[in-house]
Amino acid sequence: MASTIVVAMDGTSGSGKSSTSRRVASRLGLRYLDTGAQFRAVTAAMIDAGVDFAAADVAEQVAALAARPVVESGTDPDAPTITVDGHDVAERIRTQEVTDHVSAVASVPQVRQRLLDLQREIIGAGGIVVEGRDIGSVVAPDAQVKLYLTADPAARAARRTAENGAGDLDATQADLLRRDAIDSGRATAPAVAADGAVHLDTTPYTLEQVVDLVAGLVEQAGATS
Ligand code: DC
Repeated sequence: MASTIVVAMDGTSGSGKSSTSRRVASRLGLRYLDTGAQFRAVTAAMIDAGVDFAAADVAEQVAALAARPVVESGTDPDAPTITVDGHDVAERIRTQEVTDHVSAVASVPQVRQRLLDLQREIIGAGGIVVEGRDIGSVVAPDAQVKLYLTADPAARAARRTAENGAGDLDATQADLLRRDAIDSGRATAPAVAADGAVHLDTTPYTLEQVVDLVAGLVEQAGATS
């Protein structure tokens, strides 16, 4: 495996991006970066800083604070870590409170620019699977492998509910679609399938099948790059 390879894994919420990215990276000895976790970490910091998410000027409030939080991501796919200002926020970023506000925070250009610099620094010389919404289009347009994962909204909601161990299916599906609409409708770096990305609808496949398929594509690209 060429250790300089960059794999851009974009797609919708609940499409299987995270599980697939981690397993492929682990199997192939690559690093792993979850950029969604970084946006969630900044969101936790914004909540702690007292941003009023119900206010009309929420974007201005977030922009004014965007330079502050120091986010650090550990890239071991078997034990990824995420901290803000030195505090472990791995559990906090999966709370409903953070999920409710993350798309609003991720729409703010100042937040995206800050994380873009950090993401490119981490990607560095490569050897990494990077998961997000704008990886193949903006963060790593030269990635050797670009994927765009989707799945049926009902399947996505069922997976998310199973992951969380509980939850209402209809409400979960409505929440996924609400976030998709904000993420793909924003002005800066909208969630989009990059030019040349391999589209994969994971609905009919097991995680193992998707991992095998993606790992095969990455190996093939590694052999020729
Ligand atoms: O993948 P996730 O659900 O953890 O992502 C959380 C949010 O962050 C999601 O609403 C979209 C946003 N995001 C983004 O805008 N750009 C990325 N590269 C990754 C995530």
